[in-house]
Amino acid sequence: MSSFVSPEPTSQKPFLPDGAIGECFRCHQPVTSRGECGCKDGICLICADCRDVLPLLETGSVDLVLTDPPYDQKTHLGARYGFRATSSEIPFPPLEDIPGLVGDLLRVSRRWVIAFCSLEMFGSYKQAAGECWIRAGLWRRPNGVPQFTGDRPGQPAEGLAIMHNPGSKRWYGGGKHGFWVHNIQQHGRFHPTEKPIGLISELLADFSSAEETILDPFAGSGTTGRACKDLGRRCIMVEIEEKYCDIAARRLEQGVLFI
Ligand SMILES: C[S@@+](CC[C@H](N)C(=O)[O-])C[C@H]1O[C@@H](n2cnc3c(N)ncnc32)[C@H](O)[C@@H]1O
Repeated sequence: MSSFVSPEPTSQKPFLPDGAIGECFRCHQPVTSRGECGCKDGICLICADCRDVLPLLETGSVDLVLTDPPYDQKTHLGARYGFRATSSEIPFPPLEDIPGLVGDLLRVSRRWVIAFCSLEMFGSYKQAAGECWIRAGLWRRPNGVPQFTGDRPGQPAEGLAIMHNPGSKRWYGGGKHGFWVHNIQQHGRFHPTEKPIGLISELLADFSSAEETILDPFAGSGTTGRACKDLGRRCIMVEIEEKYCDIAARRLEQGVLFI
């Protein structure tokens, strides 16, 4: 088992039938190695350490991985010392093993793997992906926090490490650039590092088609699952913190969101 982040993997596991990889937090049914459970809307949520779950998912069982893993230590320290809007510590540890994570994600995906990251992390993702590296994308946040210290330029954007397994590629963005512009949601957020649902929906529309299966192993408040439900994709989410699983499950029970 690889170790992407520092906490020890969970040790206690519920009783599960043979072949099941976990229990769905929403429907409480066993989840198959293709991420199928009893949820009628096709959005499965596993409350677990993804380091335990990813090795159990079948090779090529999803069409797209769209995920927002913890960033590097520098970003997390920046948050601790007040360089972000929240001025609070990010409540989960930084990512440690990028090669291990990228290897697992590329194995599980048939096609694209897209991971949010800080701009400083592009080199590590590129090295880990090898021939599967496609290019760096950018998410520009026009309402991002200014540089409060005033002694250097502010952070202009967050990164998207864009990877794809060998073979032909297709996306649905035509000739547009890998540059997405969405404001950070200022009020009523579900998670300290929540991504705007409009941004996630645009990425889903660009990189996947209806009824395809999306994986987000660092689900947080479930923005990816919520957007998948609204856009008619199947989704498998994994989140280690029960409090965020609760929030994600509640977001999925709300009516269709208009964005
Ligand atoms: C950057 S946040 C994702 C936020 C999400 N995009 C949203 O919009 O709410 C990363 C999440 O990964 C979770 N996490 C960290 N390590 C994990 C692991 N090993 N397995 C599963 N989830 C993990 C954290 O608890 C955190 O909620």
